[in-house]
Amino acid sequence: MDGKGHRQGLQKVKSNQSSSSKLAGRVRAPIVLVTGANRGIGFEICRQLAARGAEVILTARSKDAGNTAASKLAAQKVIVHFHPLDVSSRKSIAELRDFLKRTYGRLDVLINNAGVIAKNDSRALNVDMDTVRVTLEVNAFGPFHLAQALVPLLQASKHPRIVNVSSGMGAFLEMESDYAAYRLSKTALNAITVMLASELRGRIAVNAACPGWVKTDMGGRERRA
Ligand SMILES: NC(=O)c1ccc[n+]([C@@H]2O[C@H](COP(=O)([O-])OP(=O)(O)OC[C@H]3O[C@@H](n4cnc5c(N)ncnc54)[C@H](OP(=O)(O)O)[C@@H]3O)[C@@H](O)[C@H]2O)c1
Repeated sequence: MDGKGHRQGLQKVKSNQSSSSKLAGRVRAPIVLVTGANRGIGFEICRQLAARGAEVILTARSKDAGNTAASKLAAQKVIVHFHPLDVSSRKSIAELRDFLKRTYGRLDVLINNAGVIAKNDSRALNVDMDTVRVTLEVNAFGPFHLAQALVPLLQASKHPRIVNVSSGMGAFLEMESDYAAYRLSKTALNAITVMLASELRGRIAVNAACPGWVKTDMGGRERRA
């Protein structure tokens, strides 16, 4: 969907909103970017925020999956803008940054949601080091790099915020040795969150959140032991 069509669509949705949703009209709609949003938690974040009047940029590494997700929401009269983003690709991050700069000139909220658990993730003594590298690349370095790239645009916002979707599995207090690559990546993400929060204190709010167990492709149908 192009920028103009998107804005027209958004107006339609806004005019359908109940009076409890006061984002539209009174204040300019927050521009929210969500990574890994073609399915699972990211998709639902997009749906709920766009339905409340935010200007949502749904990103996904697959163009087809991203467009399908945006169309699914449009069928529910929830309008989002799709833009491709592979969080492990420098080129893809640079293209997204340029798109945001050109189209909006600012960003209000960055939600680093994209994440992976590799099928062969395993206990610490057995986990394949390539699995560790790939998992860190997506779950930790992706959000880190995105923050670096997008902070200049977030600084143009009145109420800028970065939310990193983390996991209790990365917390020292809950640390065990299964899913070693995933756990390490989320511990690293927590550390990155604290560093950025410290560096950006008073300018950009930076938090990490654990959604708890959610029935998605990653979460599975049964809670992990
Ligand atoms: N579900 C839970 O119980 C649970 C619990 C705690 C924390 N979390 C966290 O919540 C977040 C969302 O999880 P979920 O349950 O919604 O998982 P999910 O259903 O498996 O969705 C993961 C999303 O991340 C995307 N992704 C993977 N690699 C990517 C990359 N390189 N670039 C861009 N996108 C990429 C996937 O895209 P593709 O479709 O292209 O693979 C997909 O859209 C993750 O950070 C996860 O660690 C989940």
